[in-house]
Amino acid sequence: MNERETWATRTGFILAAVGSAVGLGNIWRFPFVTGEGGGAAFLLIYLLFVALIGFPAILAEFVIGRKTKLNPVGALMELGGNGWKYVGGIFIVTGFVILSFYSVVAGWFARYFLEGFRGSYASLLAGYDGGAPAMFGAVSTGLDAFIFHTIFMALTIGVVALGIRRGIELAVKVMVPAIVLLLIGMAVWAFTLPDAGAGYDYYLSPEFGVIADNWTELLPAAAGQAFFTLSLGMGVMVTYASYLGEDRNLAKDGTAIIGFDTGIAFLTGLVVFPVFFAAGITEPGDGGPGAIFISMTEAFATISGGHIIGLLFFGTVTIAALSSAISLLEVVTAYVIDEKGVDRWKAALGMGGVIYLLGVPVTYDLIFLDLLDGFADGILLVFGALMLVLLVGWIAPKFAVAELEKGIGSLGSLGDAWIWAIRVPILLVLVVTLTLGILDYVDFLTGPFADWIGENS
Ligand code: TRP
Repeated sequence: MNERETWATRTGFILAAVGSAVGLGNIWRFPFVTGEGGGAAFLLIYLLFVALIGFPAILAEFVIGRKTKLNPVGALMELGGNGWKYVGGIFIVTGFVILSFYSVVAGWFARYFLEGFRGSYASLLAGYDGGAPAMFGAVSTGLDAFIFHTIFMALTIGVVALGIRRGIELAVKVMVPAIVLLLIGMAVWAFTLPDAGAGYDYYLSPEFGVIADNWTELLPAAAGQAFFTLSLGMGVMVTYASYLGEDRNLAKDGTAIIGFDTGIAFLTGLVVFPVFFAAGITEPGDGGPGAIFISMTEAFATISGGHIIGLLFFGTVTIAALSSAISLLEVVTAYVIDEKGVDRWKAALGMGGVIYLLGVPVTYDLIFLDLLDGFADGILLVFGALMLVLLVGWIAPKFAVAELEKGIGSLGSLGDAWIWAIRVPILLVLVVTLTLGILDYVDFLTGPFADWIGENS
């Protein structure tokens, strides 16, 4: 067997992890869940979750990966015993499910980006009877969506097939700085918009009443978003840490990664909300997965300078989505390479191909987006995080602290604090979130999904 690959530089590892974390979760999902959660009220809870839960949890994934130098299935088996291979198996399935719909949504962004080269967003919308919603309806399913899903998956497979240093590390070194610079530029531009103030207001002044009235929905939504945006709960960070060649300070790396991810989500809000308000869209929370496409194209069609900013915006999201998609495929690919001894090329192409097929139904009808997304975010990721917490907190805490101390030095009582954070508060939040997630999903299956089946059979 070939020697296992490693990152060429520490920056490469950090950028890859940031690239994974920063994606559709920050730019497509964050604004609309924040809108639904009452703007700043949601933001506050979300930040709390990121610090108190995201940070200890990302460290848990890191130590598992660096200690075992294996994919999640192998890693969990080594630390927990043979039975844990089923849990690892669930991680792999989660990767399949998330990437399948992620690629379709990313394809929409690529489409909106490329459309911008054919003319201004105003002239584009004029071509659709019914404006932005009609355009979204036309491109989000059918042959159009299928073609862009194909292109996006092909790019993802290509990068992963090239390997850790020549593929992923090289790609993220270009992509992540580009994302950051583009977003800063757009945020500065958004600041100059006529109604920027109203946008900031909505985004940044918490209405505590909203928290008090809706906490049963806000808490799990914020926890789910915190896990999703940090790519936690299915072994991405386990896999990426398994390519670390030397023992570095994981707490520092974790802080940098979380800082970047949160900063970029926050920046996105500083772009999106002023743009909405400048275009007269004052209820940004409505509308689900199409919301950002519909509102943003309407805004880009109305505001002066909207054409250029639109191109930059859709382009940035496409890049961010690609660096996340890469991490999802890498988990699955690493598993096949480590456990089945298959070549990287064949593994990436084979697994990527199956994931691609799984995404095709989403291009047929958006009900499949809810079906896959709800199952992955609401159940699989939370379950995965719960298992990681059990392993690190209750089954192998000694190894975990010892591994974290490598590259840092003795942690003393901080190590205990970390383990106890994992053992009790994080565990509790996860159990509550999982319960609510399952209930929600059952509602979906027996409600909208059952109706859809009824209408289509
Ligand atoms: N974090 C990415 C985003 O915010 C999505 C993502 C990539 C992800 N890999 C993941 C989510 C693993 C959960 C688990 O868009």
